[in-house]
Amino acid sequence: AEVILLRSQLLDWYDKEKRELPWRTLAITEKDLNVRTYAVWVSEIMLQQTQVATVIEYYNKWIKRWPTVQDLATATLEEVNQMWAGLGYYSRGKRLHEGAQKVVSELNGQMPQTVENLLKQLPGVGRYTAAAIGSIALGQVSGAVDGNVIRVLCRVRAIGADSTSPAVTEALWNTVDLLVDPSRPGDFNQAMMELGACICTPKAPLCSQCPIQSHCRSHHKVSYIQQQNTNKL
Ligand code: ADE
Repeated sequence: AEVILLRSQLLDWYDKEKRELPWRTLAITEKDLNVRTYAVWVSEIMLQQTQVATVIEYYNKWIKRWPTVQDLATATLEEVNQMWAGLGYYSRGKRLHEGAQKVVSELNGQMPQTVENLLKQLPGVGRYTAAAIGSIALGQVSGAVDGNVIRVLCRVRAIGADSTSPAVTEALWNTVDLLVDPSRPGDFNQAMMELGACICTPKAPLCSQCPIQSHCRSHHKVSYIQQQNTNKL
């Protein structure tokens, strides 16, 4: 029951407060699964090492020039690199291009349609990116753990151990797979990212604005200490 409440509080907050981002709009308006998967793939690769504010313009230009995986497959690497200019980590653009050519030549032009196949078949797509694309574009019920989500979950569960240790990371993948809302997995994952980016920030988190404050063990501990201090004054 606690999990169900957490999901609905997080998603209600996300519905009200989320930033309108072009790949989010597309996930609502575009019905063609191949186009959705391709576009969310492009957005997630761009977002791997570049901030949201910078990615928006590059993403819009890219999708306008190459609206489908078939269009990207016919581009040259020079054109791809030109389009990527300024984003950094150029191998990301090269892998998108290689991936598009593979999809067209080996997969009949069909983007992989499961988290497992996204991971296996697309170069540059790791565990996080596969779960993000699968949930956002395809509604696959798969939690996605990135740096923001690690911070949020370590706070919610008051995990004091080194959050970068493989054991903690593995435990968090299991945790988020249990938490993710099966009816809205893509929104749930993006709400967790949004919470980490906007509220549960590395320094000075805005706990008073947090939709899942009541579920957060770290917040309870801090409130308790503050309460004790107040009582002493
Ligand atoms: N960072 C990585 N993926 C993201 C997404 N879908 N929305 C916002 N920030 C992100």
